[in-house]
Amino acid sequence: MKYKVIIFFIFILFKPLVFFGQHASGENLMEHVNIDVRDTSSLQRGAKYFVNYCLGCHSAKYVRYNSLIDDLGITEDELVGNLMFTGESPFDTISIAMDPEDAAIWFGITPPDLTLIARSRGTDYLYNFLRGFYVDDSSITGVNNLWLENTAMPHVLWELQGTQKAIYSDDVFDHFEEVEAGTLNHEQYDSMVKDIVTFLSYIGEPIQIERREIGTKVIIFLLIFLLIAYMLKREIWKDIH
Ligand code: HEC
Repeated sequence: MKYKVIIFFIFILFKPLVFFGQHASGENLMEHVNIDVRDTSSLQRGAKYFVNYCLGCHSAKYVRYNSLIDDLGITEDELVGNLMFTGESPFDTISIAMDPEDAAIWFGITPPDLTLIARSRGTDYLYNFLRGFYVDDSSITGVNNLWLENTAMPHVLWELQGTQKAIYSDDVFDHFEEVEAGTLNHEQYDSMVKDIVTFLSYIGEPIQIERREIGTKVIIFLLIFLLIAYMLKREIWKDIH
């Protein structure tokens, strides 16, 4: 009986971990991406891609530049030299010069601030969205997106990814077919997108780096405590059994 109780508690303890990876996948064709926000080199690359390829249109206005120093493991000089180009101060938030009204005229919609996008859309969605642009001559931007139909966002990474068309079978999306190769091969492009998604996930919840470490330590503590509690219980009850 008591073993059943112990197994039950271990199951309760690990259940969230077991089901963690299955979240949001399987519902459709979305590919799951396994990101690790503690991977500082991935975060550094992601931040660099973000400022080079996204910041022209999207802000991350709830993030201060200088908060990246500790979390990305970079120096202030690296921050200013690699990630800040328009003379902001490290105390500034990551905003853009584009006027939202102009943006609405250019794109028909204001590009959303990306600080919390990973939380509202999920990392799998972002990973698939950035790999889901395909050629569509009927669209103003020349592309459409499998995950956000008729999106106003142009395929800003097309030179790197190349171009692809969507192949349907019986009106259901089947796969992408390459039209023109980009400067990166498929693995390189996927890994670049993964770095961007890692960065977006981090800015959506910077504390998660710490939270994950604390979580692991708490579970280790609980397991050790379980052992001690069990041994104690055996010791206390040994004369009664
Ligand atoms: C040329 C301007 C421009 C650039 C550069 C740009 N975007 Fe966008 N983005 C847009 C616009 C416009 C929208 C709104 C699209 C819509 O709602 O149809 C958008 C929407 C998005 C969305 C929201 C999608 C959704 O489901 O609502 C995400 C995520 C996104 N962009 C990520 C990125 C990332 C990451 C980069 C950098 C690699 C980037 N964007 C670069 C213009 C841009």
